[in-house]
Amino acid sequence: MPSPADLSTSQISHIEVILNGGEPRRYPIVAQAGLMAGLGQECRQLGSLGKKVLILTDANLQNRYLNQVQASLQQAGFEVSSVVLDAGEPSKSLTQAQFVYQTLIQQGFTRKDTLLGLGGGVVGDLSGFCASTYHRGMTLIHVPTTLVAQVDSAIGGKTAVNLGQIKNMVGTFYQPKAVFADTDTLNTLPPREFMAGMAEVIKYGLIETSCDGQTGFFDWLETHASNLNAVLPAMIHRCAAIKAAVVMADELETKGLRFFLNLGHTFGHAYETLSEYGILHGEAVAIGMRLAVRLSVELGLIEATLLQRLDGLYQQVGLSSVLENAPHFPATEVLAIMKHDKKNQDAGIKLILPHQTLGRVVVRDDIPDAAILSVLKA
Ligand SMILES: NC(=O)c1ccc[n+]([C@@H]2O[C@H](COP(=O)([O-])OP(=O)(O)OC[C@H]3O[C@@H](n4cnc5c(N)ncnc54)[C@H](O)[C@@H]3O)[C@@H](O)[C@H]2O)c1
Ligand SMILES: [Zn+2]
Repeated sequence: MPSPADLSTSQISHIEVILNGGEPRRYPIVAQAGLMAGLGQECRQLGSLGKKVLILTDANLQNRYLNQVQASLQQAGFEVSSVVLDAGEPSKSLTQAQFVYQTLIQQGFTRKDTLLGLGGGVVGDLSGFCASTYHRGMTLIHVPTTLVAQVDSAIGGKTAVNLGQIKNMVGTFYQPKAVFADTDTLNTLPPREFMAGMAEVIKYGLIETSCDGQTGFFDWLETHASNLNAVLPAMIHRCAAIKAAVVMADELETKGLRFFLNLGHTFGHAYETLSEYGILHGEAVAIGMRLAVRLSVELGLIEATLLQRLDGLYQQVGLSSVLENAPHFPATEVLAIMKHDKKNQDAGIKLILPHQTLGRVVVRDDIPDAAILSVLKA
């Protein structure tokens, strides 16, 4: 695991995820600028990927990166074909999964062959879902191309498709053989998508000590926020390392540790729902995270300076405009959705709140409605 001190070097080779449930498994997560050109060789070096690779991608990535990835894999000796989805959340469906299965069957793919997801979280979740179920599990490689995918969805093994309007209703836990994140792909990402990903990045700064015992990532972000382009591989590595630590400790989400990753998400999800998904997930997380920090301050769980520092960081990365343009919903409606969402109907709303020092969080389900309403109205 890289320590915060290592983050000044952008050439950290890779992080290793080691999973001990059942058969011990390990795989690399690599984040580097320009990685895509050598992707074929990287895959070759992994060994045992089979002969064939099916690249699953979306229409926005087809023109930008598909040819390069295909050529690199062919040069490394793989037989390569592709499926191109419409871009966007509706492609994360059983209908598209069925189309992928049919393509794999028609082209004679075995479970030793490889499905490679080239794209954001939509492509990644669908690739993972198809790979985990085709022949009860074929080889999977993630090549994430959004910030959300590079720091979050490609790591951790959660796969899913939506069932009609119900998001992530059907899914599996399935780890890839490797994650290759080319940080240069973020240069073509729409700025709004990049910013949404920054909300998840900042989240890691607020939870890191609870996840892997380290400190300093939030401070590091404050130092580098004005020139993020220069430090993207290091930034992504640190986020990946934090998520990997949580996943290694709680692969199947049975021990509650993975819940730390939901900082800001209970509030955020209510905003996402009430806006009828008119705001991006990361934007909702940015709104929700600020509410969580504010609530923590009001409850005396953490010093008020954290809220000022969060606002400062939002300002630096451009997330303050998301807050300024956030939709306004009546506090009681937001609270009602938060109550409806909670999985345990007997307990109160489960919230992750910053606690004691920057980087630490606590899970609480005993916060009075009045306190929650007070921050929602502020
Ligand atoms: N499995 C998990 O643990 C996990 C975690 C977080 C989110 N998710 C899922 O991820 C999905 C959201 O992922 P996302 O935010 O990456 O959205 P996305 O996959 O829809 O990508 C966002 C947009 O950016 C485009 N795009 C992707 N890479 C690009 C690039 N390099 N240049 C230009 N355009 C590019 C896409 O075509 C799309 O239009 C949701 O379905 C969510 O449920 C899963
Ligand atoms: Zn999220």
